[in-house]
Amino acid sequence: LREHEEFTKVKNIATIELGRYEIETWYFSPFPPEYNDCTKLFFCEFCLNFMKRKEQLQRHMRKCDLKHPPGDEIYRNGTLSMFEVDGKKNKVYGQNLCYLAKLFLDHKTLYYDVDLFLLYVLCECDDRGCHMVGYFSKEKHSEESYNLACILTLPPYQRKGYGKFLIAFSYELSKKEGKVGTPERPLSDLGLLSYRGYWTRVLLDILKKHKGNISIKELSDMTAIKAEDILSTLQSLELIQYRKGQHVICADPKVLDRHLKAAGRGGLEVDVSKLIWTPYK
Ligand code: ACO
Ligand code: ZN
Repeated sequence: LREHEEFTKVKNIATIELGRYEIETWYFSPFPPEYNDCTKLFFCEFCLNFMKRKEQLQRHMRKCDLKHPPGDEIYRNGTLSMFEVDGKKNKVYGQNLCYLAKLFLDHKTLYYDVDLFLLYVLCECDDRGCHMVGYFSKEKHSEESYNLACILTLPPYQRKGYGKFLIAFSYELSKKEGKVGTPERPLSDLGLLSYRGYWTRVLLDILKKHKGNISIKELSDMTAIKAEDILSTLQSLELIQYRKGQHVICADPKVLDRHLKAAGRGGLEVDVSKLIWTPYK
C-alpha cells in the first residue's frame, strides 16, 4: 500500500526559482504540509531555504550572509569549485538539498537522515557568489562500496559535461581512499547513460594506450571502478571473450578506434592536483 501511495502522489511544486533561473520540476517531492497549497517555491540559492513568496525571498536575501555552500572548499579550478558539506554539521542545508533534489529524482528513496552523508556541491563562482550547478551525496561509511548515493545536475546546467565531472570526482575520492566504488542502485535512465559514457571513455582511453595484456583487476586498480562495472561496460562494447572459464579482454585497435569515435565528449576534466582532501574518518 505504501508503495502505491508513493506512485500516485501528484507533483505539487511545478516550478522553482533558484538564483537567476526559473526551473520546471520533474517529480513529486515531499515538502512539509504547509507547502501543500503552493505550485511555485522560491529558493535562496546559497542556504537553499525555500519560501512561498518572492517578497519573502527578497527579504531573506538582504540578511542571508552565505555566498557559497556551508562547508569546505576542497577543489578550485578557474571558476569551478567543489564544496564538501557534512550533513551532520549542516542538517538544515542537507535537508533543503534533499527536497530540492527530489524534484528531479524519480526512483530514489531519499534519506532525510542526512547525518550519515557527505554532500559534494559543485559551483560556478563569480563576484556575486558561488552558484550551485549540481551535487552528489556519499555515505560516510558504505558497506556495499558505494561511492555515490545520488547525483544531480540542475536542469539549466545539464548536457554540458558537469554530470561526468561529478562522476569523475566521485572516483577521484575513491582513489584517494584506496578503494573501488560504484554508484548506489537503481540508476535512472539519465544516470545510466552518464555512467556508461564515463566508464566507456575511461576504459577505452586506457586500453588504447596500454601495450600487452591487461586484466579487469588491473583496470579496476587503476580507475577505482568496480570490476562488475568494468565487465558490463566491456561486454556491452563486445570487447570481452569467454575462454576456458575466464573473461578475457580482446582490445582490437580498430574496434577501439570505432568505439572511441562514438564515445562522445569526455566531459569536464577533474584536475587532481587541485583537489585538497583527506578521507572521512
Ligand atoms: N538525452 C540523451 N543523453 C543524455 C541526456 C539527455 N537528455 N543527458 C545526458 N545524457 C547522456 C549523454 O550520453 C551525455 O554525454 P554526451 O553529452 O557526451 O553525449 C552523458 O549522459 C553525460 O552528460 P553530462 O553533460 O556529463 O551530464 P549532465 O550534467 O547532464 O548530468 C545527470 C547527468 C546527473 C544524470 C542529469 O541528467 C540529472 O541530474 N538527471 C536527473 C537526476 C538523475 O536522474 N540522477 C541520476 C540518478 S541515479 C543516482 O543518483 C545514483
Ligand atoms: Zn539564504
